[in-house]
Amino acid sequence: MKPRVLSGIQPTGSLHIGNYLGALKNWVRMQHDYECVFCIVDLHAITVHQEPAELRRKIEQTAAIFLAAGIDPKISSVVVQSTVPAHAELAWLLTCATPLGWLERMTQFKDKAAKQESIGDGLLQYPVLMAADILLYKANAVPVGDDQSQHLELTRDIAQRFNALYGDTFVMPETKLPTVGARIMGLDDPSKKMSKSETGSNHAIGLLDEPSVIRKKVMRATTDSNPAVDFESMGAGVVNLLTIHQAFTGWTDDQMKQHFTGMRYGDLKKTVAE
Ligand code: TRP
Repeated sequence: MKPRVLSGIQPTGSLHIGNYLGALKNWVRMQHDYECVFCIVDLHAITVHQEPAELRRKIEQTAAIFLAAGIDPKISSVVVQSTVPAHAELAWLLTCATPLGWLERMTQFKDKAAKQESIGDGLLQYPVLMAADILLYKANAVPVGDDQSQHLELTRDIAQRFNALYGDTFVMPETKLPTVGARIMGLDDPSKKMSKSETGSNHAIGLLDEPSVIRKKVMRATTDSNPAVDFESMGAGVVNLLTIHQAFTGWTDDQMKQHFTGMRYGDLKKTVAE
């Protein structure tokens, strides 16, 4: 039997090229080596307020993007989290085996809580629900970005504690950080990872953006004070544009250097936008 992989994505914001290059593209490749479950985690989405109609639309849109990206429903499962009540049920069982201190230590919780006046309990419970998603399917491996590895460690801690208390129940899941997946930064601010929830119009390239919009965004991307590409000294914005180009074309480092060394930024952007 093939080992099982589970991953999840929230149906909020707009999926962008960072999601594609960092997650979706790897998922598509993994389908053949693993038994895959891809979960649209709408119960996670409602840890912050969502308009019901908009959320429903986003769930469908996310599923459609999965298929468009190459996830094959004949070999992989696509699950909408809220349609399987066992996610919420298991989350409760795990909640009762989880010390509060473990949850309060989560950096993502602390970050999100710091931005809000009153903190919903859902935000604290968020990683327990994520543990439930993973443990429910006895997933062997979980491909996630490095921002989620603390939640994965917590998942293992909870599983271990539950197993110690009640007997061997859960499979211990491994974290699978992307080996090749590129880390794509915001076009407006290359010090920040490209984010689905960032509202700045020039921040992310959406997977559903029109070509003309994509061109405009790339042409406005932040670079540095050099006039042209110099591989010895590049600002983060230039590195980001080159990373995007390399990730989509699959060019080698040598090919990249040959093609782009000395290219003026205007031309670099035109090349990337194509
Ligand atoms: N917390 C994850 C994120 O924001 C989404 C998620 C929910 C997830 N449940 C999961 C990821 C289970 C992997 C496995 O990216």
